[in-house]
Amino acid sequence: MELDGLDKNRLPQHVAIIMDGNGRWSTQRRKHRIEGHRRGKTSVRVIVEMSRKIGIRYLSLYAFSTENWFRPDDEVEALMGLLEHYLVAEQAKMMRYGIRLLCVGDRSRLPVAVRRTLEGVIETTANNQRMTVVLALSYSGRDDITRMARKLAQQVKAGQCQPEAIDEQWISAQLDTGGIPDPDLLIRTSGEMRISNFFLWQIAYSELYVTPTLWPDFREKEYLQALVDFQQRRRRFGRTDEQIEQSPLAVVEAGGRKS
Ligand code: FPP
Repeated sequence: MELDGLDKNRLPQHVAIIMDGNGRWSTQRRKHRIEGHRRGKTSVRVIVEMSRKIGIRYLSLYAFSTENWFRPDDEVEALMGLLEHYLVAEQAKMMRYGIRLLCVGDRSRLPVAVRRTLEGVIETTANNQRMTVVLALSYSGRDDITRMARKLAQQVKAGQCQPEAIDEQWISAQLDTGGIPDPDLLIRTSGEMRISNFFLWQIAYSELYVTPTLWPDFREKEYLQALVDFQQRRRRFGRTDEQIEQSPLAVVEAGGRKS
């Protein structure tokens, strides 16, 4: 794989992807929607593999939203089947390459068999340190924030948390993504200019990259293009150009906070 134009010293630490366009890919070819998802699964494999090779530390994939439960039963079933198959097929590779699997979302809604397989892979890969793959399953940003608010209310009610102790770090830590750095780059395939209830809190300072390429066609070349584009951005976290020139690291470490 040629990595032309990519600066290995300025890689995003965390890439998050809204994988969209499987259905359109199928419609364009007069195939069943499931075919697009099946091919989309291959894109998942390719992008995880490439991320590992180039040294991306965190890769988050929006695989199934809370809204996706409203799709036709056969499509939901097929997606769950593909997910389970992916987990079973990839576990050995995750171990071989030091990949840790995490899941964000309300996994209690997943079919029991899928949940068991998922939890098995999460447990088996828990000590892997080279890279973390975060699957967003039955996830939505609002649901994440709602569940966090409920936890917060319970802790305050029980006297375990003082309102003054609540700051941005506290909230970040209580979300499903607690302990995971915010995404530096958010990629969306298939051209739609929206966030679709994915990470809401977490993408405050993420660079956005939208490509018309449909997810089943999003492979090495398209990913490389997104990463090179990211490296051409000037991240200011709300500061001025002069501040960045004087003290670039301080701005990055502040992560965009005002003080
Ligand atoms: C969006 O396409 C994609 C999804 C709803 C699911 C993503 C699932 C996969 C890539 C397959 C397996 C996943 C894993 C993790 C192995 P869409 O159906 O909304 O496309 P459309 O907008 O063109 O209809």
